[in-house]
Amino acid sequence: MNTDKIRQDIRGLKDGKIFLNNAGSSLMPSVVVDSMIDYLELEEQMGGYEVANRNSEVLEEFYSETAKLINAKPHNIAFATSATEAFAKALSSIIFKENDVIITTADDYISNQITFISLQKKLNVKIIRMKNLPDNELDLDDLEKLIKEHHPRLVAVTHIPTNSGLIQDVEGVGKLCKQYDILYLVDACQSVGQMVVDVQKINCDFLTATGRKFMRGPRGTGFLYVSDKALKENYAPLLLDMRGADWTAPDDYILFDTAKRFEHWEISYASLAGFTQALKYANTIGMHEIEKYNASLSQTLRNNLQSSGFRVWDLGKHLSSIITFTGPEGDLDAIQKVLNDNSVFFSVTYKNSALIDFTRKNIHGIVRLSPHYFNTLEEIENVSAMLKESLA
Ligand SMILES: Cc1ncc(COP(=O)(O)O)c(C=O)c1O
Repeated sequence: MNTDKIRQDIRGLKDGKIFLNNAGSSLMPSVVVDSMIDYLELEEQMGGYEVANRNSEVLEEFYSETAKLINAKPHNIAFATSATEAFAKALSSIIFKENDVIITTADDYISNQITFISLQKKLNVKIIRMKNLPDNELDLDDLEKLIKEHHPRLVAVTHIPTNSGLIQDVEGVGKLCKQYDILYLVDACQSVGQMVVDVQKINCDFLTATGRKFMRGPRGTGFLYVSDKALKENYAPLLLDMRGADWTAPDDYILFDTAKRFEHWEISYASLAGFTQALKYANTIGMHEIEKYNASLSQTLRNNLQSSGFRVWDLGKHLSSIITFTGPEGDLDAIQKVLNDNSVFFSVTYKNSALIDFTRKNIHGIVRLSPHYFNTLEEIENVSAMLKESLA
């Protein structure tokens, strides 16, 4: 990991800030921004259609780079404008009937939970959340029992929640879904770009991710992975457009073969070009390297905070590069002040975004720090020291 070189590639780091909000929206490498500017300038000269035609091969690299990142094939990948769009499109391809069951987790993302509740309200679909073990890991025995009892239409799991450092056992869930032939959707929005995500190991039918977080791409980008099995079984968005099918007769169409059928025809090609550069950047460093580096930074930060007297709320055996904490009495204000005063970029999550988790933990919010591979150990020690001092 050549951190010096990586930091030189970030124009946004030049003014001395310590950027620890990669779970929110990271800093893009300059090559990402430059490629978008270049692309837009071409559109300014030639119009968008002509530029897309002339660059069709380069634009296809989005699919091969994404496939490389998650161990899939290019035909399994669809571009999306966000993780939420990818998630909604995947869900819309499942024709739910009254009393169908969705099994999910207490730690799934707020928008996913709201979508499930919407399906519950509108279609009378049932939501069941599998139990957690005392150490906060998913209770896979409970999941197996639930699968046998309810024959769910879908199992949906968020790999890494937005509001805690937990890494959920998506591979363990995937084994059960395969064994019982249940459709399986994984929200990998916070894990893609942060750690190795391998769809062959996870064994999912759908996987969703965003561009702007640990992937370090631009806003308005993301992707959806669709397995060969789901493609063969003709899963496609409910509201399909001409990107997804060939109009073959006044009342008929033929679905296209690849996951592109999950895209909409119109997207921002400049954003796609920028995201492709971000994917290339991560693939060139290598996700194993990135994961190892991130694990060591986050462990140091967590240990420092704990030994200074902060309450760290990341419960689970496997923890991510998301560190959530409060003051000893659950307070957030003093922490925010010291971070703001020292140009440390961070975020705060309140209970409405993590209703079940924060009710269980009896807290109203947390401060979230999310280091990434361009951060240095020195930055982590500096932030730890300034926070420790604020408690003195
Ligand atoms: C776990 C998780 N899933 C999904 C999303 C939604 O991503 P997007 O805003 O790109 O739709 C987020 C955003 O914070 C997230 O943390």
